[in-house]
Amino acid sequence: MDKMIKTATLSFDGKSIELPILQPTVGPDVIDIRKLYGEADVFTYDPGFTSTAATDSAITYIDGDKGELLYRGYPIEQLAEKSHFLEVCYLLLYGELPDATQIKDFEARVTNHTMVHEQMHYFFRGFRRDSHPMATMVGVVGAMSAFYHDSTDIADPWQREVAAIRMIAKLPTIAAMAYKYSVGQPFVYPKNSLDYPSNFLHMCFAVPCEEYVVQPALAKAMDRIMMLHADHEQNASTSTVRLAGSSGANPFACIAAGIACLWGPAHGGANQACLEMLREIGTVDRIPEYIKRAKDKSDPFRLMGFGHRVYKNFDPRAKVMKESADEVLDLLGIQDNETLKVAKELEKIALEDEYFVSKKLYPNVDFYSGIILEAMGFPTSMFTPIFAVSRTVGWISQWKEMIADPTQKIGRPRQLYIGQTQRDYVDVNKR
Ligand code: CMC
Repeated sequence: MDKMIKTATLSFDGKSIELPILQPTVGPDVIDIRKLYGEADVFTYDPGFTSTAATDSAITYIDGDKGELLYRGYPIEQLAEKSHFLEVCYLLLYGELPDATQIKDFEARVTNHTMVHEQMHYFFRGFRRDSHPMATMVGVVGAMSAFYHDSTDIADPWQREVAAIRMIAKLPTIAAMAYKYSVGQPFVYPKNSLDYPSNFLHMCFAVPCEEYVVQPALAKAMDRIMMLHADHEQNASTSTVRLAGSSGANPFACIAAGIACLWGPAHGGANQACLEMLREIGTVDRIPEYIKRAKDKSDPFRLMGFGHRVYKNFDPRAKVMKESADEVLDLLGIQDNETLKVAKELEKIALEDEYFVSKKLYPNVDFYSGIILEAMGFPTSMFTPIFAVSRTVGWISQWKEMIADPTQKIGRPRQLYIGQTQRDYVDVNKR
């Protein structure tokens, strides 16, 4: 990666500093400023990391202008069509597609870890029933470091591997338990005869008094949602996981931090916010009113499910998601779905509107996912937990990549201080 063939020159205050330029396998060159402070006594300023690469990584690549997303080099559209979630997990974690024996072994390892420690059931019961499932998940996933202390030694590659498998296997169980708890139904234990997405649907929707049979087409749609959300390079929650992990924190604590970050409406919380917005709009005739509000700088309202820091073109995940939404609604016999109608019309109007066109604001992954999840029977509060379940493998892969890097350092940004300069303390009666 550190193949240095070019340099950039930074000149200021009569000084001139040569900075190496690093070249990625694909994508823009990166000016290496690591020695800048030491040599020139200046920092760079980039709140929101709009122009800053915080790490190198070999996992996921996005070309935002083309609307391209690759996991380990494979286009997301090919994976969504031909692969399945656990195979994508293997690819993200280990770098290559598995052969038949490797995938069988991996699936068996994940399946053998789907149950959670029985004591966790009592831990859940400490939460209020009306807690948002994301609140419960932040707490319970953080608490995994107490329940699975034997896989928290980050210096031991085997423990790191066990922690990774445990999280991929148990996050669906935890998310389903958070849901069951919120609706006052008994927890449903994992059923290891089912595949990964079917098991998740079963744990969410089965009840002891009735037989629940997972519809294969719905399991396939769930599997696809999981694949589409599995990783997205250095997004906010992944960067949070890396930053938390850079101090040497254990992986369960790091993933809990990622879940907390994901919850925000500018990130993973957008799927819940988007469906709530579509419902609030209600009918197509009200769309112009909302488009007007989205463009009004004095109104904090934004079109949820629109815009992206990196994509300045269609989010390739949104395209696949839109097709899936049509398929799932057809399958479930949901015709004339008003929310889908509003979504399609809103997309059409926004894509022709000068404001959205000039700012390159396109639908993102969260625009259509909620419609599918709602049709499957999930309440909006479960949308972001499902995103968290799917993204866990990405977080873990990025965390493992970071820990295995011998040059890894604690993440510690600098600041542009704009506060008071030094002053003397004044006694309270003299202020
Ligand atoms: N509706 C209206 N205007 C928007 C929107 C929107 N959804 N998104 C961006 N803009 C405007 C924004 O006001 C700004 O205008 P100006 O240049 O005149 O100040 C311009 O577009 C650039 O926006 P930004 O906020 O500087 O861009 P960003 O890269 O910091 O933010 C974003 C990206 C995703 C947070 C933002 O587009 C947004 O808030 N979208 C809605 C929330 C959403 O759908 N989030 C899900 C993202 S994809 C899944 C995930 O990451 O989890």
